[in-house]
Amino acid sequence: MNDQIIVAIDGYSSCGKSTLAKALAKKLHFIYVDSGAMYRAVALYFLRNNIDLQNHEQIADALKNIHLNFHSRDYETHITLNNEEVSNEIRQMPVSESVSSVSAIKEVRKEMVKQQQRMGRSKNIVMDGRDIGTAVFPNATVKIFMTADPKIRAERRFKELHPKNPDITLEDVFENLAHRDYQDTTRSESPLRRAEDAIILDNTDLNQD
Ligand code: DC
Repeated sequence: MNDQIIVAIDGYSSCGKSTLAKALAKKLHFIYVDSGAMYRAVALYFLRNNIDLQNHEQIADALKNIHLNFHSRDYETHITLNNEEVSNEIRQMPVSESVSSVSAIKEVRKEMVKQQQRMGRSKNIVMDGRDIGTAVFPNATVKIFMTADPKIRAERRFKELHPKNPDITLEDVFENLAHRDYQDTTRSESPLRRAEDAIILDNTDLNQD
């Protein structure tokens, strides 16, 4: 038994998990791991290489060719996919629209969970995602389950995306979030749910501080 500390933050899309996780990691001098960025990078690879999500052989082969790495600078997520920096591209709509289907695939989850557990083996970390407190680190020191009103979540996300994507509408963002919530909570592999010992944090009316 070691005395390493793991903080697991799970919850719905765009309710402030990564903002909280980054701030905590900075304050505590822990490593921050954005597990969603890993699923997003896999989704990007699948899109670029036209991987058929029904074809398990293609998926297994693709996973062997995907090498992900985090480079932490100022606690912002910088992720590389086969040595290419993809941190910006993984936030765009094509990836956001396909990532829930990609993250529901059993082989994809198995590989990502293995990599995430490896990252938490020796260092103090804050990791955010959907299954961190339930599947990746069921023995995490602290578990937080975040939620917020869907309309507020969509508005916050829209404000973030709109400057770089002027064509995007609030409705697009709202629908994408609703769709991802549905897929993330109803999938058969590690669906999003609150771990029994997780603290609920409703972020509807809170500011960052
Ligand atoms: O946190 P995010 O929105 O960047 O995550 C992108 C997608 O990845 C989200 O729709 C669900 C999935 N995901 C997951 O299934 N498990 C995780 N631990 C993290 C993300």
